[in-house]
Amino acid sequence: ADVTFDYRNLLEVEGGLEERELQKLSPRLGEAVDGLLDEQPGFMRLPRTREYLEASLEVAEKIRSSGATDFVHVGIGGSALGPMALHRALNHPFYNLLPDRGGPRLHFAENADPMTLSGILDVIDPKGTWVNVVTKSGSTAETMANFLVIRGALAEALGDFGYQARTVATTDPEKGFLKRIADREDLVTLPIPQEVGGRFSVLSPVGLLPAAVAGLDAEALLAGAARCVEEVEEQGAEHPAVAGAAMHYLMDTSRNRNIRVMMVYADALERLAAWFVQLWAESLGKGGKGSTPHGAVGTTDQHSQLQLYMEGPQDKVIEIVEVRNLPRDVEIPGAYEDLEGVGYLSGHTVGELLGVECDATRRALAEAGRPNATIRLGSLSEENLGYLMQALEIQTAVAGTLYGVNPYDQPGVEAGKRITYRRMGRPGY
Ligand code: PA5
Repeated sequence: ADVTFDYRNLLEVEGGLEERELQKLSPRLGEAVDGLLDEQPGFMRLPRTREYLEASLEVAEKIRSSGATDFVHVGIGGSALGPMALHRALNHPFYNLLPDRGGPRLHFAENADPMTLSGILDVIDPKGTWVNVVTKSGSTAETMANFLVIRGALAEALGDFGYQARTVATTDPEKGFLKRIADREDLVTLPIPQEVGGRFSVLSPVGLLPAAVAGLDAEALLAGAARCVEEVEEQGAEHPAVAGAAMHYLMDTSRNRNIRVMMVYADALERLAAWFVQLWAESLGKGGKGSTPHGAVGTTDQHSQLQLYMEGPQDKVIEIVEVRNLPRDVEIPGAYEDLEGVGYLSGHTVGELLGVECDATRRALAEAGRPNATIRLGSLSEENLGYLMQALEIQTAVAGTLYGVNPYDQPGVEAGKRITYRRMGRPGY
């Protein structure tokens, strides 16, 4: 994998972190990473587990060989953001419109939004549609509502048997209402391992199945993630993802920089930022602690938020994510060469412009005393995405220990779910 972390602008900018602060935190950081390696929480074991990969590939093959035209992934939060991030990062930006794409068209029914859901029903061909309903708990209201609607449309077009043969239930392997439905209707099932929390589940069947259905290399995703785990085992607190946990923690707790902006310089990574925002926010925001993650896209947000990052309150750390070699580039043709405000662009490429703007932003931030970090991906590949997502999960888990919070629960989210259930009339609430 080719993923590097550059923290120089957290240390060298005016007001940046000092070596002695990192030294002071170092014993606690060492304990945090050792604890993580000893404990081996479920998400750390996923990259080296073949079982879920094989099960996902088998179901993906069944779907692809059935001549499926559409694949609707129904799920929310941790059951959707990871697969969406992979799809956006690794598939063609207009995947669904391509005649020769890697697999069936992909649709995500995530939010409980009648506009999106009815829009999906407008464009799918029910006769060639597979639905994958993904919920670990087995009863999240938004997911089950979306599922019931799509199920109804499919059953109407295909009859009960047709619908059942084209439905995958990705859920807890033993319990929950979706598991009961799957048993009752003999649906194809894939497990979400009990020991893996929603937002840490992208490398389980939650992310592996939709990736494989679209023709992505799910095995390479896991290989990249496994490489990251090996490196953390070898390097411990020296691993840059782990060291980054300490730096972001210190920026928040000792510098009052309690906003962490992930600014991705590639449209393809926009959903990766959304995935990370959930991971960091839902894992760490508890007990009055946690820093606020925010996603931004360069260059677009240079024309929207950068002014605030440059001259607004000194409460942010900007983390740029850039890709050295995007899979494609476009030359800017020569024209208007007599007009100096336009002609200079000729002979350059759009990728070059993106790269130069990214570098310019990083330098301008540093010169203005605005701490920033950079994550660099050599390319947009399954291996690199697998590595990066695993690294950010590890960083979040280590940060949880530093903050003294449990990164794997979400009591605040559960509270809202309970109120929803009560108001929507679910018995027992
Ligand atoms: O990270 C989490 O645990 C949450 O975001 C869940 O993924 C989300 O609430 C959906 O839960 P479920 O998969 O049980 O439907």
